[in-house]
Amino acid sequence: MSRLIIVSNRVAPISEGGPAAGGLAVGVYDALRETGGMWFGWSGDVLSSVPEGIKLEEHGPVTFATIGLVRRDYDQYYRGFSNATLWPAFHYRPDLIEFDRHEYDGYCRVNRWLAAQLAPLLRPDDVIWVHDYHLIPFAQALRAQGVKNRIGFFLHIPFPAPQILLSVPRHQQLMEALCSFDLLGFQTEPDLRAFCDYIATEAGGAVRRDGTKPAEIRAFGQTLRAAAYPIGVYPDEIAALAKDGASGRDVQIVKATLHERKLVMSVDRLDYSKGLVERFRAFERLIEHDSHQRNNVSFLQIAPPTRSDVDAYRDIRLQLEAESGRINGRYAELDWTPIRYIHRQYERPVLAALFREAHVGLVTPLRDGMNLVAKEYVSAQDPDDPGVLVLSQFAGAARELTAALIVNPLDIDGMADALAAALTMPLAERRARYDEMMQQLRDNNVSVWRDNFLRDLKAP
Ligand code: G6P
Repeated sequence: MSRLIIVSNRVAPISEGGPAAGGLAVGVYDALRETGGMWFGWSGDVLSSVPEGIKLEEHGPVTFATIGLVRRDYDQYYRGFSNATLWPAFHYRPDLIEFDRHEYDGYCRVNRWLAAQLAPLLRPDDVIWVHDYHLIPFAQALRAQGVKNRIGFFLHIPFPAPQILLSVPRHQQLMEALCSFDLLGFQTEPDLRAFCDYIATEAGGAVRRDGTKPAEIRAFGQTLRAAAYPIGVYPDEIAALAKDGASGRDVQIVKATLHERKLVMSVDRLDYSKGLVERFRAFERLIEHDSHQRNNVSFLQIAPPTRSDVDAYRDIRLQLEAESGRINGRYAELDWTPIRYIHRQYERPVLAALFREAHVGLVTPLRDGMNLVAKEYVSAQDPDDPGVLVLSQFAGAARELTAALIVNPLDIDGMADALAAALTMPLAERRARYDEMMQQLRDNNVSVWRDNFLRDLKAP
C-alpha cells in the first residue's frame, strides 16, 4: 500500500485527545491516525537562524516531520500573504486585503523551500496530499524538484467568487500554480462552482462536468480534476469523549455557577470571519426583548487567540472586548453575568463535555469553509436530551446539517428569534433534529472524506 504524506502549514500539537482548535488540524489528525503516514509542516517555531533540517518524531503510526521558519519567512509567508491577503479575500472581505509584493515573493519562496526540504524524504509510490491556502504553489514547487508522485490539494476555507478573487494581485499566477495539482478538493459544491467559474471566465480554461464524477479541468496548459469533499468528524468518538468528560472539573464548575440557568455556547478562534460581534448583539437582543430569558440563560463564548500580529485580528479583539463589556455592564445583575467571554484555548475533551451541557450551540460565522465546531456540537449531545444547533447559512456545514436552525448572521433579530426558539424547543423536536443530523454525520464521517478524496487522487 502506498504511504500517505500530508503537508499542511500547521501540524497539530499532539496533546491528549488530539488538537484543540482549528478545523484543519482536527480533521487531518483524525484522518491520518487510522491510515498512518507522514505529516509535514511548520513546527510553529519562529527562529533567528535557518534551521538545520526537518525534525522527525514518531507517534504511533504517524511520523511528524516539522521545521521552523525564520522571522522574515514567517512574516512574509504566514502573517503576510497567507493571512493578510488570502484569508480575507477567500472569506469575502476584500476590504481587509493587504498586499505587499515582497510578501507574495516570500510566500512563493517559502513554498519552494518547504518543497525542497520534503523532496528527499519522498518515495516513488507515496501519495501526497497538501492542505490549505498557505500551500497553493506547493505542487508546482515539488514538480520543479523532479517529484512525479500524485499530488492532491484540499482547500479547508471557502473559494471566493471570481469577482472577489480578482481583487488579489497575482491571482492568475496563483491559479496557474493551483492547477499543477492532480486533484483539487473543496468543502462544498458552491466552492467548486466558484473555482470552475474562474477557470472558465477568467483563465480561458475548459471545465467538463459529468454527473457525480470530479470535474475535468483544462487550464494554463495543464489538466486536472476537481470535486467537493465535505470534511467530517467521528461523531461517536466525540459523543464518548463528551460523556466521559461529564464529571470533569471544568464541567462541574460551569454547572455549579449556572444555577440551573440554560447555557448557550460558542467556540471559535477569535477571527473576524466568525461573526462574533453580530452574535453578541443577537444574544443581547434576546435578553433585551424577552424578559423571561433574562437571568435564565448565560452565554459562554470561548475564543482562543489566533494570528494576533495581524492588524485585523487586533481590531476584532478590541471590538469584542468592548461589546462584551458593554452588554454585561448593561444587563448583569449581582448573581448573573450574561456573557462569559474567555479568550483562551481548551482541550478537545473539555470542549466536548461542555458542548453536552449546552442547551444551544451557536455557530454563526459570516463565512466558513466547513466549521467543524457545528459538527462537534451535535456529536457531543446526549441522545435522550439533545441541545439545539443554531447555524449560519454561510458555514459549509449548513449544506449538510439542514436540521439545524439556519440563520443569516447579519440578521440580528432573526438570530435572537432562533435563540428563543432553540431555548424553548420541545424534546420531541430536539430529538428529531438531532437524529437527522447524527445520521448525516455518521454517513459522511472523516474516513469517508479521506477515502473519497484519496480514491479520486489515485484513480488513473
Ligand atoms: C483554519 C485554517 C487552517 C488553520 C487554522 C488555525 O482552520 O483553515 O489552515 O491552521 O484555521 O489557524 P492558524 O493560523 O493558527 O494555523
